[in-house]
Amino acid sequence: MKLACVILAAGLGKRMNSSLPKVMHKIYDKPMIQYVLDSVSKLRPERTVIVVGEHHEEIEGSIRGSAVSFALQREAKGTGDALSKAKAALKDFDGTVLVLNGDTPLVTPETLKRFLRLHHKQRNAVSLISFIADDPKAYGRILRDSLGRISSIVEDRDATEGQKNIKEVNSGVYAIEQAALGLLKDIPLNPSKGEYYLTEVISIAKNRGYKVNSYCIGSENELMGVNTKSELLKAHLAMRKRIVNGWIEKGITFIDPDSAFVYPDVRIGGDTIIYPSVYLEGKTRVGKGCVIYPNVHIIDSEIGDGVLIKDSTVIEGAIVRSKAVIGPFAHLRHGCDIGSESKIGNFVEVKKSVIGQGTKASHLSYIGDALIGKGVNIGAGTITCNYDGKEKRRTTIDDNVFIGSDTQLVAPVRVGKGAYVGAGSTITKDVPPMSLALSRAEQKHIEGWALKKQFKVQSLKLKVKNRKDR
Ligand code: UD1
Ligand code: CA
Repeated sequence: MKLACVILAAGLGKRMNSSLPKVMHKIYDKPMIQYVLDSVSKLRPERTVIVVGEHHEEIEGSIRGSAVSFALQREAKGTGDALSKAKAALKDFDGTVLVLNGDTPLVTPETLKRFLRLHHKQRNAVSLISFIADDPKAYGRILRDSLGRISSIVEDRDATEGQKNIKEVNSGVYAIEQAALGLLKDIPLNPSKGEYYLTEVISIAKNRGYKVNSYCIGSENELMGVNTKSELLKAHLAMRKRIVNGWIEKGITFIDPDSAFVYPDVRIGGDTIIYPSVYLEGKTRVGKGCVIYPNVHIIDSEIGDGVLIKDSTVIEGAIVRSKAVIGPFAHLRHGCDIGSESKIGNFVEVKKSVIGQGTKASHLSYIGDALIGKGVNIGAGTITCNYDGKEKRRTTIDDNVFIGSDTQLVAPVRVGKGAYVGAGSTITKDVPPMSLALSRAEQKHIEGWALKKQFKVQSLKLKVKNRKDR
C-alpha cells in the first residue's frame, strides 16, 4: 500500500499566548512536530508533507527527517484549507494519505499502523481515529446515525448542549484515499469561525456515497491535542512517564520513576540503577550496570559499562569509560575522555582533558586542557593553570606520575613518566621522567621563637597591671 503523510502545522496557535509557533513548543529538547514526524517516519511513507504558515522558516529550519517537503498555507483559513495546500505536493501520488495535526506529539506508530490496517481492510475512502476524552471541550464531537455509524463531526463552538455531552471526539488523524482528496474543494466556510474545517470531509464523503468509518482506538494519553501551555505540560508529563516506563520494561531500575527525566534520544544499558532527581539529556548513552546516584545531570555524554556516578555530579559532552567512579560533586565538561577504572572525586572539575586508565583525582582539583596518562595520582588541590589570559595551554602528565597535593602546573608543561612532584609545588618547567620536582620555599626553624613570644606577652600584661595598680 502506498502511503503519504501530511502534517498540518500552519495554525496560529493563539491559545499558547507565545510568539513561538505552536508546533515548535518543546517537550524536553524536541519540538512537538518532531515527535509527530518521528512517529510517522516509522510507517516509512513514500513522502511526508508538512503544511506550514506564517512562521514557516522557523519550522523548516529545525525539522529533521528524510523525504519531507513543505507546503505553504499563507493565511490560516482552517484545517480543510491547510490540507488542500498539500495537494500540489501529492499530485502524482496514488495511494493513502494519512493526515495528522502537528500538535499531537504523543501519537504512536503502533496506533497509526493499526488504524491504517483497519482503513485498508475495510476499503474505506475516508477513515478517522476517535477517542474518549475526559473533558471533550477542546475537540470536535463525533456524531453517529441511528445505526451507530459516524455521520459528521461538530466543533464545540457549533455544538448543541446535547452534543456537548458527547465524549467521543475527533483525534485529527485521518486516512484519505487520494481519489477522495478532490472533496476538499467542496468544504464550505464555517460561518462561526470563518474557516474551512477538514472535519466536514466526513459528512461530504458520506453524502457522496464514499465509504467512511471511524475507529475509537487509542487513548487521550496518546491522541491529545496541545493547544495551551497547560496542555503542553500535561503532554510533557505523559511523555516523561512513557519514556521512563519504556526503560523499566527494558530492565532499568528507577528508585523514584516520578523524579527521573530521561530525554527521548537517550539510551540506557540493562541493569543500570537510577536514583531520584536524575536528568539524562540530549544524546546521552549510559552503559550496562551503571549506578547513578541522586541529583546527577548528564548531557550529551557517553557513559561506559559499570560506571558509578555519585550524587550531585554534572557531566556534559564527555566520555566516561567503563568502571570509572565519578563524584560526588564532580563536574566533567565538554571534550573530556575519562579512562576506565579511573576516579574523579568530590569537587573536581575536568575540562577538555584525557584521563588515562586507573588515574585518580580524588579531591578538589581543576584539570583543564590536560593529557594525563595511566595510573597517575593527582593530589588534593591540584590546579592546571591552563589560561595565560590570552590562550589555553596544555598540561601533559605521563603514566604513573605522582602529583603531590596543592600543586600548580603552569601550562604548557610536561611531567615525565614515573616522576614525582612534591606537595605545594608550582611547576613551570618540564619535569624529567623518574625524577622528583620540588618548587617550594625551604622550611626554616627559628629555635625558641615561641618561648620568646610567650615571654613578651607576659611582660606586656605585667606592665598594664602595674599601671592600673598605681
Ligand atoms: C482540530 C479539529 C477537531 C479535533 C482536534 C484534535 C478542525 C476544525 N477541528 O481542532 O475536530 O478534535 O483538532 O486535536 O479540524 N492548522 C493549519 N492551518 C489552519 C488551522 C490549523 O495548518 O488554518 C493546523 C494547526 O497548526 C494544528 C492543526 O492544524 O496543528 C489543528 O488545528 P487546531 O487549531 O489545533 O485545531 P483544533 O481546534 O485543535
Ligand atoms: Ca489542536
